[in-house]
Amino acid sequence: MSNNGSASEAGESAKHSETVPAHDHDLRYGEGGGDVKIEAIDVWKTFSARGGKKKKGNSLSTEALGGLNLSISRGEFHVIIGPSGCGKSTFLDLVAGLTTATEGTVLIDGKPVAGPGLDRATVFQQYALLPWKTALGNVEFALENLVKDSKERRKIAAEYLDLVGLKDFYGHHPFELSGGMKQRVAIARALAVGPDVLLMDEPFAAVDALTREILQHDLLRITQESGKTVLFITHSIDEAVFLADRVSVMTARPGVIKEIVPVPLTRSERLSDDIKASDAYVSTRHKLWELLNKEAAAAADVSG
Ligand SMILES: Nc1ncnc2c1ncn2[C@@H]1O[C@H](COP(=O)(O)OP(=O)(O)OP(=O)(O)O)[C@@H](O)[C@H]1O
Ligand SMILES: [Mg+2]
Repeated sequence: MSNNGSASEAGESAKHSETVPAHDHDLRYGEGGGDVKIEAIDVWKTFSARGGKKKKGNSLSTEALGGLNLSISRGEFHVIIGPSGCGKSTFLDLVAGLTTATEGTVLIDGKPVAGPGLDRATVFQQYALLPWKTALGNVEFALENLVKDSKERRKIAAEYLDLVGLKDFYGHHPFELSGGMKQRVAIARALAVGPDVLLMDEPFAAVDALTREILQHDLLRITQESGKTVLFITHSIDEAVFLADRVSVMTARPGVIKEIVPVPLTRSERLSDDIKASDAYVSTRHKLWELLNKEAAAAADVSG
């Protein structure tokens, strides 16, 4: 489940009232000298199968990441795409502190990630809500160790449910909510703990196309207002171009970053109605499609 971990620092609840600087549309992300928020330096991850090697020369271990380097700026919306099994989730888990690198380092604010922390919140494809708690209860639960006063907890939880458009659904249980609504609760829960970094692993993959577009708009609006750094994984090129300031395309496994493609559109432009017909959108989409297609073919070679 996301947002686990404990926090007792009195300062944590202050995060909720912190004003984050508005997003600067003129920032050119990741181009030297910027304010780096997340940095991966030569990251390798090998999963060893239980029992190690089957026979001599016939290793059961899987090399998921093969020396990945990436630098993500503070406030950037960074999307990763890549063929299935190339190590995207593995990388996100490393940034979340849910697993450790075999070699190399992941830094947040220049400090090595040593485990999960309240500076990062993760939203997965599956909602991972507590079924016996209401929408409000689910968000309140994430705040339990952060905000001592129960009234204050309720107030913060309600604010975040309002932010994701669930004002009329505080008392509904997960089974009474649609897939898109459940994912909104998961997003509200992630945002409520006041993380600097939002980690999202295919968060909209399980919802219908129209709901997905609405959720994308809402996420872009919310992150634009809050200035959070977002690392977002998707299989959808359209989702990548719509959401990202920059898109990293990963190679087939063992994954590294093959190319980083900046999206030449401001967030306000992306939120306008006819953006998908613009030259910038269409050409970026095409470029990503070409890059991804080559890697998908390479991945098919590897596995088949
Ligand atoms: N806990 C694990 N134990 C063993 N192997 C693993 C483990 N987690 C991932 N792998 C392997 O590492 C590789 C990368 O997996 P990962 O889940 O990161 O891929 P992905 O890019 O997120 O794929 P998808 O797009 O399908 O979600 C895969 O070959 C997978 O089988
Ligand atoms: Mg994955």
